[in-house]
Amino acid sequence: MSARQMKLGAFLMATGHHVAAWRHPQVPADAGLDFQHYRHLAQVAEAACFDTLFLADSVAAATGDSASQMARSDHFEPLTLLSALSVVTERIGLISTVTTSYNEPYHLARKFASLDHLSGGRAGWNLVTSDAAAEAGNFGRDEHIGHAERYSRAREFHQVVTGLWDSWSADAFVRDKASGQYYDPAGRRELNHVGEHFKVKGPLNVARSPQGRPVVVQAGSSEAGRELAARTADVIFTAQPSLAAAQAFYADLKNRAATFGRSADELKIMPGVFVVVGETQALAQAKFEAFQDLVQPEVGVALLGRMLGNFDLSGYPLDGPLPELPLTDSGQRSRQQLLSKLAEREQLNLAQLGRRIAGGRGHFSLIGTPAQIADQLQLWFQNGAADGFNVLVPHLPGGLEDFARQVVPELQRRGLFRTHYTGTTLREHLGLPEIDER
Ligand SMILES: Cc1cc2nc3c(=O)[nH]c(=O)nc-3n(C[C@H](O)[C@H](O)[C@H](O)COP(=O)(O)O)c2cc1C
Repeated sequence: MSARQMKLGAFLMATGHHVAAWRHPQVPADAGLDFQHYRHLAQVAEAACFDTLFLADSVAAATGDSASQMARSDHFEPLTLLSALSVVTERIGLISTVTTSYNEPYHLARKFASLDHLSGGRAGWNLVTSDAAAEAGNFGRDEHIGHAERYSRAREFHQVVTGLWDSWSADAFVRDKASGQYYDPAGRRELNHVGEHFKVKGPLNVARSPQGRPVVVQAGSSEAGRELAARTADVIFTAQPSLAAAQAFYADLKNRAATFGRSADELKIMPGVFVVVGETQALAQAKFEAFQDLVQPEVGVALLGRMLGNFDLSGYPLDGPLPELPLTDSGQRSRQQLLSKLAEREQLNLAQLGRRIAGGRGHFSLIGTPAQIADQLQLWFQNGAADGFNVLVPHLPGGLEDFARQVVPELQRRGLFRTHYTGTTLREHLGLPEIDER
């Protein structure tokens, strides 16, 4: 049996993950609506054998006084973008974030089944409950749905979506011209779901897709998020600040999966990692500082407030401590805890904390040479902290090109990452079991 190898996701974000990337001379500021930019990124990632592309999303423009200083809202709708990318790529997975809070399961099931057909089995859905409170205002509400309610809806949403993906047996569509029979009624399964949040008859108006079910990712790491992931997800995307924290998370999720009768291998754990690579440590650090120097303090603090769970921190002194905040009901509880602990541990004032997270938003950060970065990824991968990583880079396309050309070959030399694709579907790349049809 071949040795276990890590999974890699290229987490794309218009101009890059650094909040000030768009101001950097090497970054095209209008990248978010430039298809050639994304085509290039997808092809760089595919040439490097990444398992998947990964797109985050929210269904609201950035808000607050500093919104005009941030490049956050001006980008393609991700499923439309991935559909276009599916025809200029052949192997790489295509994962998009879509919210369960402001959507209907039928629409979502249909779109991902379509993407799975379009791409020959490379679609993945990152299930979220929305961490941007501003979304509520676009969907007939004054306030965002509360945390518990969002997860209750998400659980049932997932059940309906997977039920709809199972609407047809793989051989249902016989399309027999001679007999005139288009599909075999025995292969048609009506869902007839009636629950607390949804009433959905089915079946889906799309034949069973190549993967049977597109891959399901869950991003949310609170107690409720962990339960949902352990029960239902193929992959969990998470932010973990250190090896010890990541190990604890990994063990917890694998144990929880077992309580639902799932094997440890059925749930892949992929922490985010923010990477800045250079030929020497000093060069990598200088590259990072060039982005840090572009951070306007109020922009860093606005990002911080949003990541802490939709708080407006603009009234607090920049050189003062992080104020005491109530537990967020509208945002990410896991991130709120991570960032509060970071401020305390490193004794950072508000402006410093905003600057500290301007690149990686609290994800584990690595700034160094290809060998130093590979050392850390290897350490996490071989010591019960990760099955792979969702890679965040400060700027695009440069940061991804650097990772693909410098870090990937180092991982390959160590036997830790594939040198060519062996499968064709995302499920195969990730080593996930095939879906048993009922
Ligand atoms: C690593 C990570 C990435 C996330 N990405 C998104 C995203 O792109 N869009 C979004 O609406 N929510 C995103 N979320 C938040 C989810 O919507 C999540 O369901 C919700 O905020 C609750 O998070 P919690 O379980 O940590 O409290 C993300 C959460 C995590 C931990």
